[in-house]
Amino acid sequence: MADTGVSTESFAQETNVAYKGPRLRMAIIGCGGVSETQLKALQSMPDVEIVAGADINPQRLQATKDKFALTALYADYHKMLKEIKPDAVTVCTPNALHAPATIAALEAGAHVITEKPMAMSPQECQSMIDAANKAKRKLAVGFQYRFHPATQMLRRARDEGQFGKVMFAKCQALRRRGIPNWGVFGQKHMQGGGPMIDIGVHVIEMAHYVMGSPKPVAATGKIWTYMGNKPNDVSSVWPDWDWKTYTVEDLAIGHIRFDNGAVMQIETCFAAHIERDVWNFTLAGEKGGCSWDPPAIFTDRAGTMTNTTAAFLAEGDFLTLFKLKLRNFVDGVLRDQPLEAPGEAGVAVQKIVDGVYRSSEAGQEVRIA
Ligand SMILES: NC(=O)c1ccc[n+]([C@@H]2O[C@H](COP(=O)([O-])OP(=O)(O)OC[C@H]3O[C@@H](n4cnc5c(N)ncnc54)[C@H](O)[C@@H]3O)[C@@H](O)[C@H]2O)c1
Repeated sequence: MADTGVSTESFAQETNVAYKGPRLRMAIIGCGGVSETQLKALQSMPDVEIVAGADINPQRLQATKDKFALTALYADYHKMLKEIKPDAVTVCTPNALHAPATIAALEAGAHVITEKPMAMSPQECQSMIDAANKAKRKLAVGFQYRFHPATQMLRRARDEGQFGKVMFAKCQALRRRGIPNWGVFGQKHMQGGGPMIDIGVHVIEMAHYVMGSPKPVAATGKIWTYMGNKPNDVSSVWPDWDWKTYTVEDLAIGHIRFDNGAVMQIETCFAAHIERDVWNFTLAGEKGGCSWDPPAIFTDRAGTMTNTTAAFLAEGDFLTLFKLKLRNFVDGVLRDQPLEAPGEAGVAVQKIVDGVYRSSEAGQEVRIA
């Protein structure tokens, strides 16, 4: 690039003053794959002390000790809660454990952030919210995508009225061949479902947040399993998944109606014969619309159909998003800042996912209470 003589170097001065404020003593339940990103993010925060970890798998406990120098490690999270008495807990177990581990931590006096999805069902989510209210503790859901700079740009555009009344959202979390070959992601009794509850939730939570969190009232949906439960020798990014224990859907399609008249269409799959992977949502409103990827706002200006894109967006990589979501939780607990993804956001998304599954089972539209 030609040297324009314009410096882009920042002259902001680095300060190295030791942090002296309050510190949050945090513990982690579930030391598997996602715990590593969580621990990296938490270790970068001067106002957080990671005090303990729990996992039923001794190899994962050893790996956590080796990588993160965490020494208070437990096979039983109940014992950890009793002995360590953490101020806050992050729950990173398979989905079936989100509700029991969260409720145990809240009852032990800890604030909680739980990984997505919030739980296995809206009823479980509600019991978590009730437990938080009873214990007078904060409860957040690990929806990092609402902190993404593109999501923040679109939410702000919506708040500024640039879309007008939003009528339609289209959510796509599509993998051509991406069945997880680790953990228990193929087991319905541990996860509650497949791509709809695992990756659909990410795009649904972003779109629902940007729409202004309307109340879902009805769902129509259909799910199919045709590939994950059979041997497969096609090369792909995550081959050799455990097809023998695979009981979740490969493909799920949903249609949600909201109380304000808006409609959301959801397409999500772990495996489907599609051209390529897609991770996106689009909105159409009376005055304007948008897409998340690429981040763009579609309006009429100066008698012209106009697409607006960002000249600069901050970093939105996985670790940065985890730092942002955990920062919001830590500030919520230590500084009483508002939580961007409270339990109520989790239960709304869970009702959407659950509605699609129930409708597929019933073969007709179902009401969402
Ligand atoms: N926010 C995100 O982008 C993101 C990314 C990946 C995973 N996740 C979520 O995080 C959760 C875990 O996913 P993962 O990929 O780390 O799975 P994983 O299988 O790698 O890890 C789960 C860990 O929980 C442990 N565990 C199981 N039962 C336990 C119990 N009773 N007590 C303590 N530990 C127990 C397992 O031994 C395992 O080490 C899931 O809910 C998943 O949806 C979120």
